[in-house]
Amino acid sequence: MATKVAPMVLCLFLFLSTAGASSAPNSSSPVWTGTPDGSMRWGYAVPRPELRGKAGGVRSTDRCRAGGSSVGRGNFLEIGPLYITMQPRPCTWLHVSDLIFVDAPVGVGFSYADEPSLLVKTDKQAVSDLLGVIQELIRRLPSLQSRPLYLVGESYGGKFAAMLGVVLERAIRDGTMKLTLGGVVIGDGWISPADNALSYGDLLHTVLRLNDNAVSRVNKMGLTVEQQMAAGQFAAAQKTWTDQLDLIDSQSDGVNIFNFLLDIGMNPVLSSSLLMASQSALSNNTDDIINRVFKPFLRIIPKKVLWEEATLQVYEELKNDFMKPAVREVDELLALGVSVTVYNGQYDVIVPAIGTEAWVKKLEWNGLNHFLSLPRHPLHYCNSIPEHCSQQIRAYVRAYEKFTFYWILGAGHMVPVDQPYPALRMIANITQSPGNIDDVTCY
Ligand SMILES: *[C@@H]1O[C@H](CO)[C@@H](O)[C@H](O)[C@H]1NC(C)=O
Ligand SMILES: *[C@@H]1O[C@H](CO)[C@@H](O)[C@H](O)[C@H]1NC(C)=O
Ligand SMILES: *[C@@H]1O[C@H](CO)[C@@H](O)[C@H](O)[C@H]1NC(C)=O
Repeated sequence: MATKVAPMVLCLFLFLSTAGASSAPNSSSPVWTGTPDGSMRWGYAVPRPELRGKAGGVRSTDRCRAGGSSVGRGNFLEIGPLYITMQPRPCTWLHVSDLIFVDAPVGVGFSYADEPSLLVKTDKQAVSDLLGVIQELIRRLPSLQSRPLYLVGESYGGKFAAMLGVVLERAIRDGTMKLTLGGVVIGDGWISPADNALSYGDLLHTVLRLNDNAVSRVNKMGLTVEQQMAAGQFAAAQKTWTDQLDLIDSQSDGVNIFNFLLDIGMNPVLSSSLLMASQSALSNNTDDIINRVFKPFLRIIPKKVLWEEATLQVYEELKNDFMKPAVREVDELLALGVSVTVYNGQYDVIVPAIGTEAWVKKLEWNGLNHFLSLPRHPLHYCNSIPEHCSQQIRAYVRAYEKFTFYWILGAGHMVPVDQPYPALRMIANITQSPGNIDDVTCY
């Protein structure tokens, strides 16, 4: 019987109006450091020689994470071992796997490029840089090659995870890369913008957040987005989509696009966790906390690099690719035999679960019809310790062959923030981790 090997999870928690990336300050001498006990390591990688940006890596005991906006956000705000206040996060995914956070594309989070001209203009360039970061990580963490690597991407990071997965699996097959790709996980992923744009009107009307008089206008703009995309007019489609969000904003009196139960001024990350109580003394602003608390902790971040929740310049540069779908990449992953897991939060607006269901139905994967015919399994987690056994359904799951879909109830765009325990159980199931999470107390 083979012994189970601890998995590694590469997190690309990138957001729509941002991209997270990392490259390195000095290609000749990238800066790497860590905690004295060696449990965490971080640094910059230089995926292109001309880049003077940075990439981060953080390693924890036998668990590892790397740095990026994923570093700031995915790590400190969502799944890392510490809250932004440096207190332990009970539901950290570190219970299940070492974690590597990467800020990509360059320019997001703590990653930087000295010249604006070095920012990526296409998803393909972003993925090529990520491949360079993985090569650097393999040099620094040779154990990466003997453990299954899972790519987890949230939001725009979901698109990068799918694209990177295809490139990695091809490189593995043609022998240019020695690695085991465990699977690709796409959380509230920006995979098919047209399907999202076509879903906003009905979703928000059904949950009473959109003025009934505005539904047909919102739907019409969704159709325009779809037509412009079909005609290859991606920049025009992005403009229409932005106008559509503005209309939704005015006709919903400011619904929060990450969670339709919230309003625009409510920060879904800060307001929904323990964080609120503990951080209120510090600041109520994520950028401020990360720059004042986390940046000094990391030591190696150049003074001039300021962490921002959304790096508009990176988003601007990607404008011609921003709306391009990645449904074909998901198909290719399945054709290559890579495990794919898609999850979506119930309350998400920007990437609505019904939009995600819509693109899944467009897959050319030959298991699709059987998958769609299967029942969903409700998850109460009653097979775990009693306090986690819930009368309430926490999530639904449906799986067939290498494709799994989780519907996470009670969660918005940032699933692990809103539903930490179901998210932890999900990642443990995906990675088949030997880590024991029965004693973990979190909800
Ligand atoms: C790059 O490395 C050289 C030599 O080690 C050093 O003098 C220079 O300050 C470094 N530049 C940056 C941006 O770190
Ligand atoms: C943050 O918000 C809370 C609740 O609204 C408030 O009590 C606290 O004083 C705020 N903290 C700062 C530093 O502004
Ligand atoms: C775990 O994953 C398998 C395969 O994807 C799926 O069939 C099963 O329902 C999942 N179970 C839970 C509890 O998530």
